[in-house]
Amino acid sequence: MNYHIATLGCQMNEYDSGLLARLLESSGCKAAASPESADLIIFNTCSIREKAEETAMARISQFKPLKHKNPNLKVIVVGCMAKNKGREIIKKLPFVDYVIGPDSYKEIPEIILKQKARERVFIDFDEDENYQGEFAKLQTPYSTSITIQRGCNKRCSYCIVPFVRGIEKCKDAIDILAEIQEAVDKGVSEVMLLGQTVNAYKKDGETFASLLEKVSTINGVKRIRFISPHPKHYNDELLDVLLSNSKICHHVHLPLQSGSDAMLKKMRRQYTADQFLSIVEALRSKDPFYAITTDIISGFVGETEEDFEKTLDLVRHTHFDNAFMYIYSARKGTESFKEIESLSEAEKLSRHQELVVIQNEITKQKNEAMYGRIEELLMERPSTKDPDEWVGKTGNFKKVVFKPNTIVRPGDYVTCKINDIRGWTLRGTVVGD
Ligand code: SAH
Ligand code: SF4
Ligand code: F3S
Repeated sequence: MNYHIATLGCQMNEYDSGLLARLLESSGCKAAASPESADLIIFNTCSIREKAEETAMARISQFKPLKHKNPNLKVIVVGCMAKNKGREIIKKLPFVDYVIGPDSYKEIPEIILKQKARERVFIDFDEDENYQGEFAKLQTPYSTSITIQRGCNKRCSYCIVPFVRGIEKCKDAIDILAEIQEAVDKGVSEVMLLGQTVNAYKKDGETFASLLEKVSTINGVKRIRFISPHPKHYNDELLDVLLSNSKICHHVHLPLQSGSDAMLKKMRRQYTADQFLSIVEALRSKDPFYAITTDIISGFVGETEEDFEKTLDLVRHTHFDNAFMYIYSARKGTESFKEIESLSEAEKLSRHQELVVIQNEITKQKNEAMYGRIEELLMERPSTKDPDEWVGKTGNFKKVVFKPNTIVRPGDYVTCKINDIRGWTLRGTVVGD
């Protein structure tokens, strides 16, 4: 059976698609060259905002003609929307064969290969399902992500994740280290540890800080990244490791959500703007080039003009290297869904746009500040514009384009001097041989 997996949503979904690929391949399936040549299409979905679900439904419906061409084709919807919408997906898109939630992926090979299932919807939570001992297919031959914590125990009032992913489940350190070791044996040198509140990781006496230290002792691991840490779970032990361990990259994605304490409280984020800023301070006082990116929601329920101004002030003050900026989307089932929205869609959009303009200017300035720096780049791929040029990434997560003077391959490390900045693009020249 030839499979094709399409993935929407966050890195956790990317990782899960890798898990599914490996589960299928160990049952004898092979990756299809294209969706058209697949006998099995798996669509991995996201529910974080209304728009994400609309996109998923539209994209899934594009597979319908393939089903007519190949009546043996099986289409399975998995991921967060599978859990959130369940049978409703089959009602709206009857050509979908199965809907399978994030805790039931191990059922898939049996369902499709043995065709045993009469049931078409498998979305129950399983508090013991951690995919312990299952390793995912690598995302690239040189860099890969590994989920160390599934689900989420927070209850941010706007967020659907705990409802679609269930409670927090941390994997055993021994298993995480084994998965990383296997990836390194295959050539990976950059690993990204994943969890919704990844720095709250705790398992059998292991903390996130101690896990990071252990990961760094694996020979062959050169760069360690993680996403998303929660501001509440920073402590001295963690800051010490982040700032002293040379393998941990100087980039953190630290979601802010809002710069107003009133909003943060209403969002149930469990930190204040000052507490957030003290983490930024601790990182940047040691390394002014420590890159900090963030997530910000504009137009949350009850957000006043003053609340929004506080977010803008914090953004201007912090100089984030980049930000994912979202318009608040009320999600059924969440705490804030029950409240009547105080802002119109147009007002939410206008705040969002104002924020984007300010942050884009800051992003540009942060890029310009990289001018003249000598950076080690991890090679990703040839440039799409000019195949003689390559794109690599700095430790602090900036893309740099340059022309190599020797043959390079993805996964190589090359040292460059950044000496040209064109718009958003940093350009460099090779230093040394
Ligand atoms: N666990 C991470 C966030 C994961 S979701 C954390 O706590 O930071 C990724 C981002 O989506 C969030 O940081 C938030 O900015 C955004 N988001 C989540 N729910 C949203 C909603 N209902 N409307 C708009 N943006 C939302
Ligand atoms: Fe959602 Fe909050 Fe959990 Fe992040 S920490 S996944 S925003 S509930
Ligand atoms: Fe989306 Fe699920 Fe991730 S809702 S953001 S794919 S955990």
